[in-house]
Amino acid sequence: MSDTVRYERRGKIAVITVDNPPVNALSSSVREGLADSQAKAKADPEVEAIVLIGAGRTYIAGADIREFGKPMTGPGLQQIINDFENSEKPVVVAIHGTALGGGLEVALGCHYRVALPSAQLGLPEVKLGILPGAGGTQRMPRVIGVKAALDMITSGDPLPTAKAKEVGLVDEIVQGDLLDGAIKFAETVAIPGGVQGRRVSQRTDKLGGADAAFFAEARKTTAAKARGQIAPVKIVDALEAAATLPFADGIKKEREVAQELMSGTQSKALRHVFFAEREAAKIPDVPADTPTRPVKSVAIIGAGTMGGGIAMSFANIGIPVTLIDSTDEFLDRGLKRIKDNYAVTVTRGRLSQADMDKRVGLIKGGIGTDKIKDADMVIEAVFEEMDLKKTVYRDIDKFAKAGAVLATNTSGLNINEIASVTKRPQDVIGLHFFSPANVMRLVEVVRAEKTGKDIIATCMQVGKQLRKVPVLARVYEGFIGNAMLRHYGREAHFLLEEGALPQQVDKALTDFGYAMGMFGVHDLAGNDVGYRMRKAAQASRPNDRRYSDIITILCDMGRLGQKTGKGWYRYEPGSRTPIPDPEVEALIVAESKKKGVERRPITDEEIVKRCVYGPINEGAVLLEKGIALRPSDIDIVYVTGYGFPSWRGGPMFYADTVGLKNVLDDIKRFHERDGFYWKPAPLLEQLVREGKSFADYQAGR
Ligand code: 3HC
Ligand code: NAI
Repeated sequence: MSDTVRYERRGKIAVITVDNPPVNALSSSVREGLADSQAKAKADPEVEAIVLIGAGRTYIAGADIREFGKPMTGPGLQQIINDFENSEKPVVVAIHGTALGGGLEVALGCHYRVALPSAQLGLPEVKLGILPGAGGTQRMPRVIGVKAALDMITSGDPLPTAKAKEVGLVDEIVQGDLLDGAIKFAETVAIPGGVQGRRVSQRTDKLGGADAAFFAEARKTTAAKARGQIAPVKIVDALEAAATLPFADGIKKEREVAQELMSGTQSKALRHVFFAEREAAKIPDVPADTPTRPVKSVAIIGAGTMGGGIAMSFANIGIPVTLIDSTDEFLDRGLKRIKDNYAVTVTRGRLSQADMDKRVGLIKGGIGTDKIKDADMVIEAVFEEMDLKKTVYRDIDKFAKAGAVLATNTSGLNINEIASVTKRPQDVIGLHFFSPANVMRLVEVVRAEKTGKDIIATCMQVGKQLRKVPVLARVYEGFIGNAMLRHYGREAHFLLEEGALPQQVDKALTDFGYAMGMFGVHDLAGNDVGYRMRKAAQASRPNDRRYSDIITILCDMGRLGQKTGKGWYRYEPGSRTPIPDPEVEALIVAESKKKGVERRPITDEEIVKRCVYGPINEGAVLLEKGIALRPSDIDIVYVTGYGFPSWRGGPMFYADTVGLKNVLDDIKRFHERDGFYWKPAPLLEQLVREGKSFADYQAGR
């Protein structure tokens, strides 16, 4: 018998328990165990029904992703599912935790599904660049209807039990002990004809209403949302097969598409992102058993854009926050913004009024740094000015209780310098949240020279608790993400002076898969972000390199972006749709002339290379300097914080797919042409010399 599946008898009910921690993935050993258990239950004349359940924190959370791309061993999942469905003894699946992917496909093959109220049921394969390949695209529409199945499978988002019951995916919600409830339920269906009408593959009653026009429209809207990702569109094909072909032919179609997607680069990239996100949590010199400090209350200094968003993030997980500013006026403005933000979510139906009240109730305002004294964690989010941060930190040192975690949300100031004004630099760390902080998942956890390991472990844990993705970085100008962004931004602006227009640059980048192009982002964030610094720096610029001033000129013209109705584009009142503006074109052309640059046609290929290879080269520098721990951490920063297409795996993974030699050849060409920027990173040159990739580099460390 398999050591990951247990079989026992409870009276006339056979209980099959999958016990493969941590998430009961369907590894070859689980599949073997399921096949053996099926045979046992079938052969035992005393058994009248079967319950399938998961041990530990969850029911089966899907296929074992680590086995993907490797030769298959053990029985196939399809066969196991078919055997459950064909069983003459009713099979009841008992669901808790997450029934995902292959796990839910097993459940669809069984005759009944019961679940705890807290369970989630979903087919998230699209997030791995594949589709449910064990009958999910054929059985799900037969249970919940084509339209609902399309939404569920193309989004990959799970349904909570209550909703799953409403659409017919769950037959009964179990209150109390799940196994007891499932056995009781199984006893009621352990009757002659108990499987009658319960074999999903034989159902067609929910397949109506999805005609050719429905699928044509679905293909169009799905492709638009997918922005270059293949799997969602292929899922529409598989669902069309479900609606129009006999079950066996639909399964054939599903298998064909599954194989094609599984061997493609997009799926490899998305699987890389899945594991990279989890790898980022592992820090070699801060082992998982490093003691952490309890964080049950938080104080945030600075009730501005970031302070407010960070406060919401903590309130959202039930941690009370004291939000502090220097005057009543600024504090009230900050607290009002928080309420307004929550109110919008309530209006959109994504939060109940009662939950909003609870969350708002967890955020108390205060004036003066002395209000931090009871907090387990203090997060400073005042203006980005070193002298001010030092003043605030001297006060933090004075008032914070012993053992409190002292974090700064600086976007790039030297945290060693900030820590140096305290008597406890070991407690000081960077927690770089991204805007809007209540939405964005990335948090760079910035380790300063003297930061204690327990503080790092605590912040990584708090980041995960906040349902964010914490990635460790070291002190460096712009840490990981903004250091790379500098190269992206610089090239986007130079491209304009050389012959491109904002709409062309943005289109090339969105075609590549970015959620938005550089200039659309500028207009959204406000072109005045960093204006004062740029203006001040103009006087003392070294003359050995090139600069672009167009953004500063736009600000001087009052073209601050969407908020003024004009920026790199113009906007109709109340609309966020960017409209190319001849006034901006004239300005750009004049700038080229002023700089003596002859404008030339620029290809989309050049735009993508210059905007993406610059960050890759910088990424190699960050690895060499130890600012980032591993290439996959850099990928996660760029995918979760900067809109880089996840289906390209992040910039370092993407570089591997292009081939590091090809990337380096272009970088050398750009360097020759530019003369100052684009100096090839020694690590990149070394890897090319050795014929290695970033993945080899990561594996070899
Ligand atoms: N296969 C292999 N390993 C998996 C896995 C899977 N399906 N799901 C999770 N793991 C591993 C993680 O890599 C992690 O390993 P580590 O501790 O060594 O880093 C460990 O399990 C715990 O995972 P999380 O840290 O993510 O735990 P959480 O409690 O935060 O989340 C979860 C649990 C919601 C189940 C989340 O892990 C998840 O979403 N997993 C992926 C689910 C999924 O995509 N299923 C579909 C798979 S594809 C499929 O089924 C194909 C089918 O159609 C044939
Ligand atoms: P903001 O200008 O919106 O808010 C700063 C707040 O700090 C203001 O409300 C101000 O009154 C308050 N403040 C100033 N001095 C204070 C003091 N001595 N005591 C108490 N409160 C004081 O600034 P924002 O954008 O929230 O930025 C805060 C920090 O977060 C900066 O370090 C910034 O670099 C960083 N950051 C900003 C991001 C952004 O996109 N806005 C993204 C990531 C980090």
